[in-house]
Amino acid sequence: VGHGLRLLRDPLAFLASLPRYGDLVQVRLGGYSAVVVCNPELTRQVLLDDRTFDKGGPVFDRAREVVGDGLGSCPHSRHRRQRRLTQPAFHPARMPGYARTMTAQIGQAISSWHDGQELDVAAEMLALTLKTSLAAMFSSALPDSVLGNATSDLAAIFRGVYRRIVVPSIVPPLLVPGDRRYRQARNQLRQSIDTIIRARRADGHDHGDLLSALVAAVDPAAEGISGSGNSHGLTDTEIQDQVITFFLAGSETAACTLAWALHLLASHPDIGDRVRAEIDTVLAGRPASFEVLPRLELTQRVITETLRLYPPAWIFTRTATADARLGAHLIPAGTTLAYSPYLIHHHCGLYERPDRFDPGRWAPGRIPPPRHAFIPFGAGARKCIGDQFALTETALALAAIMARWRLEPLPGQDVRAAAAFTLSPQRLRMRVAARRGAGQTGRGPPGRSPSLPPKIQSTHEPA
Ligand code: HEM
Repeated sequence: VGHGLRLLRDPLAFLASLPRYGDLVQVRLGGYSAVVVCNPELTRQVLLDDRTFDKGGPVFDRAREVVGDGLGSCPHSRHRRQRRLTQPAFHPARMPGYARTMTAQIGQAISSWHDGQELDVAAEMLALTLKTSLAAMFSSALPDSVLGNATSDLAAIFRGVYRRIVVPSIVPPLLVPGDRRYRQARNQLRQSIDTIIRARRADGHDHGDLLSALVAAVDPAAEGISGSGNSHGLTDTEIQDQVITFFLAGSETAACTLAWALHLLASHPDIGDRVRAEIDTVLAGRPASFEVLPRLELTQRVITETLRLYPPAWIFTRTATADARLGAHLIPAGTTLAYSPYLIHHHCGLYERPDRFDPGRWAPGRIPPPRHAFIPFGAGARKCIGDQFALTETALALAAIMARWRLEPLPGQDVRAAAAFTLSPQRLRMRVAARRGAGQTGRGPPGRSPSLPPKIQSTHEPA
């Protein structure tokens, strides 16, 4: 059983306790063992040398059964070509267009809430980010009805992927609970994507969405590279793998960030008030847009601090492809290593009172934590390709929600972090209360005089 029981009982406390034992700590789980990298500099070394510390090992083998050879799961040997071909889809010039699509989707989703409604916040945020990702991916190609089906297919795929990764590989897939629904959802989604790809190849226009960029991608360094299929661009199967990878990598992670941010703001009402005041001043009754995001300074710091405290992507593995040295230790080829943004973000040597929610850490004028201390999106060549996409989406959604609604915690809730595929808040239910006049006038919540400017404290103080 090794460390299995402690890992299962409270994986986060277990992880946070490991730096006490050294820079590299070996943990055992059943027949597997992995070396957890607890030192921030060594973590960075692992992330920057992605040839020696490659993706691989049992978790990736199972993930590949599901997402194929997408950008996140392919080995180093195929990664550079894939990254060159997918990077244009995330070019900064495309962000304002994605942001317009996101704003429309977010506006639609939160308009359907009503005063007094109780929300399962994690589920609601997942529905919102799935719709937003689908729309940014395919723009107008998906009618609302198909969007709805694809959203429920993706939710079934999430559950299926997670089960396939955690259930031991000796169990035949057919015996894994929910496997039939998972396979049906996966086939349906692949078929829908395939139909859209064909239509896109036929019409040849740039629709401003992620799919257009993937279909149009040409690899300038392709000559002489032997990759799978068409080496100049992405094949249809490769595009399908990338699309599914983007959904899986991008929806639940962004949803967790939003859910935690809403929870943290509700449980720190003073910071919540200041965020609302900033949003009211900057938006002045207009919808949030890409252009105003730089002025939502405190809102963005709240998102940064949320990603530090609860990094949705909390642990990953690597496999040593050759004997290597990490600090004073020799790592034999074949060793499985794990790195954890959660462990680094809660390291006492890097942060003062790491468990405290304090957006003031990131205020201008404060000494920022060292670069290797903040890795919610990883680092090096395998760093998240969708980081700016996610930061844009979460800032737009948080601003839109806070401008229009107050989300109040239900009494007596014991909200905990569930460490599974992502780090999500478990049992987080909140009550929605409309902010009188908000969304049309830009005025503050009931009781606040509209003639008084909202009070914003100095951003140099700890929040
Ligand atoms: C708050 C939201 C997000 C978080 C916290 C997050 C976190 C991460 C992390 C930590 C990695 C590195 C994994 C590793 O080292 O093995 C990663 C990779 C990746 N992410 Fe994200 N991600 C987010 C949103 C997104 C979005 C929106 C997309 C796409 C639309 C996306 C697509 C990817 C892909 C494709 C990779 C693999 C990159 C590569 O290997 O070249 N992520 N993400």
